[in-house]
Amino acid sequence: MKRRTLLQALPAAALWPALSAPNSEKSAGKLLFLTDLHASPERDIPQRIQAIADKLKEWRGTPWLAGGDLISGGFWSSAGTMEAHWKLLRPVIDALGAPLMATAGNHDLVGARPQQGQASANPWSEFQEHLGDAASLRVTESMGWKFFSVDSVFPHIEEDPGYEGRVQQNHLDALREELARTDRKQPLLLMTHMPLLTVRFQADKGAALAPPKARVLINNVEVLDLFREHSLKLVLQGHLHVFEQIHWRGIQIVTGGALCGRWWGGAHLGTAAGFCEIELDPEHPKVNYIPLED
Ligand SMILES: [Fe+2]
Repeated sequence: MKRRTLLQALPAAALWPALSAPNSEKSAGKLLFLTDLHASPERDIPQRIQAIADKLKEWRGTPWLAGGDLISGGFWSSAGTMEAHWKLLRPVIDALGAPLMATAGNHDLVGARPQQGQASANPWSEFQEHLGDAASLRVTESMGWKFFSVDSVFPHIEEDPGYEGRVQQNHLDALREELARTDRKQPLLLMTHMPLLTVRFQADKGAALAPPKARVLINNVEVLDLFREHSLKLVLQGHLHVFEQIHWRGIQIVTGGALCGRWWGGAHLGTAAGFCEIELDPEHPKVNYIPLED
C-alpha cells in the first residue's frame, strides 16, 4: 500500500525548483534550519509540537531544511509502528507551507535495529515515503546558492548503538560529480545530520577527548576535502541538540540546536529548544538561533 506523503497537501509553488542554472538574484534570501524534533505521541509532546507549529506560522512561506531526527525511536522499532509519530510532522509542514529539503537522522531509520522482529531491508523507506521529494532531494538551487544534503547515518554497525556517522562511498562519488558541474564561486550550503565538526565534547568532557563514532561524521576530512576548491560557506548539522558556530577556513559550521531541546526536557547544555533563521548573505551568512520555550 502506497502511503500519501506529508507534502502532497502543499501547493506546487511550495516545491523546490528542479536542478537548473544558478539564478541571478542578488539579495540575501531567508532560510530556516529545523532539526531534531523527536516527534512522539507520548506525554504532552503532540500539544507542544502544535505550539511550535503555531509559532512557525510567523515564518510561513520561508524555505526550510530539516536536519533529521524528525521522529523519535524509529531506529529500535519495527517497520510500520511509527505512523502516529510521522503524523505529528503535519502541523509543522502545514504551518510553513514552504519548500523543504530533509535529511534522515538515526531516529528516522525505522526498523534498522528493532527490539522485536526482523530488521528492515531499507531503513530509509518510511522516511522517504512520508517526506516524498523532500527526502530524496540531494541538491537544489535557490537564491543564488546551491544546497547539498548528505546521508550521514550508517546503520549497519554491530556494536551499540548500532550506527555511526559516515557518508558512504556512493554518496561521496555523487557529491564529487555534482561539484564538478558547480561554479567554484557559487556559495554552497551542506546539510548533514551527523556533525562534520563540533566542540561539544571537548567543551563539556575535556579537550583531549575524541567524540564517540555515533555522534560525529567519522570521514569528515574526506567530505571537507571534496569542497576544498569550492565556496562552501555554510554547514548545517543536527544530532547534538546544542547551538554552536565554528568558523573553519572560511566555512561557517553550525550545529542547529533542537526543536525538542533536551528531548522535551528543557534546555540542553545551555541551548534552549529552538531553530535557526538564516540570512543567506553569499559572503557571510548570518545564523540566528530562535528559542521556542523558556
Ligand atoms: Fe540524531
